[in-house]
Amino acid sequence: QYKLTVFGSPIAHSRSPEIHQCFARECGVAIEYTRSLASASAFPEIFRAFADDGGVGANVTLPLKEIALRLADSVSERARLAGAVNTLVKTEQGWHGDNTDGAGLVMDLQRLQVNLANARVLILGAGGATRGVIQPLLSAHVGELVIANRTLAKAEAIVAEWQQSGRNGKSASQPQTGRVNITALALDDLRLHQPWDLIINATSASLGGERPDVADQVLVAQPFCYDMVYSDAPTAFMTWAQQHHCAVADGFGMLVGQAAESFRLWTGHRPSIEHALKLLR
Ligand code: ATR
Repeated sequence: QYKLTVFGSPIAHSRSPEIHQCFARECGVAIEYTRSLASASAFPEIFRAFADDGGVGANVTLPLKEIALRLADSVSERARLAGAVNTLVKTEQGWHGDNTDGAGLVMDLQRLQVNLANARVLILGAGGATRGVIQPLLSAHVGELVIANRTLAKAEAIVAEWQQSGRNGKSASQPQTGRVNITALALDDLRLHQPWDLIINATSASLGGERPDVADQVLVAQPFCYDMVYSDAPTAFMTWAQQHHCAVADGFGMLVGQAAESFRLWTGHRPSIEHALKLLR
């Protein structure tokens, strides 16, 4: 039996336990998956207690993902680039930190049959959610990536960091990303830009019932519009995009996708996202 948990605060409404139980049934694996409430200051101690108690894997959610990066004994390239860890895996060499959020997004976009190869992609927002998905989108061979934010300086900082990390240059492990143009823009400047194939809302605006204030012109080419937030009703961003005849999706599939990738890291099994979504939606 795999002893697993999700750390976060708040955590009571996390859907991770039911998602992983669904995977476990499908794959015929026995798991115990609990929710662990942990503030930022208490997290290291609560994590140690879980590890001492036989824990072998964990998910990490807000506001602990950056702390988990420092707690881990080793981290994956994608976690380092994201600046955050959402998955901890017990190994013989200690606790390994990984980040499956971006892989979850890409899996969900593939499920939705959004063509990523050479796509012109606009990401709205420049917080942790954006950081976590850049490398996986580049690995999926998007053609252009623009990060647009209300506060331009934050988008510029992400782009500069990315360029410094060398991932947009001469990386031997990812030669394909070398040609991709990553740019930072202010939300106001988007109307002057070219049409989009895919717009990803990575802002937290949806949580407050709002949408980023961008011109309707960004929807002229009817891009696929993806909101990383999920809720029972369509978000303000999704409603706006639908009014302009765009196909839309919320981030529930991304949540299930990142969970599937975490489950694979812990157990070696690859559960079906489609199956879990059918049962849990
Ligand atoms: P996360 O880690 O979830 O990405 P965050 O780091 O707090 O959260 O970042 C939230 C992002 O949503 C920021 O890019 C923020 O824009 P600013 O940098 O200008 O603050 C963006 N955001 C939040 N509410 C928004 C709104 N109503 N309109 C546009 N952008 C918004």
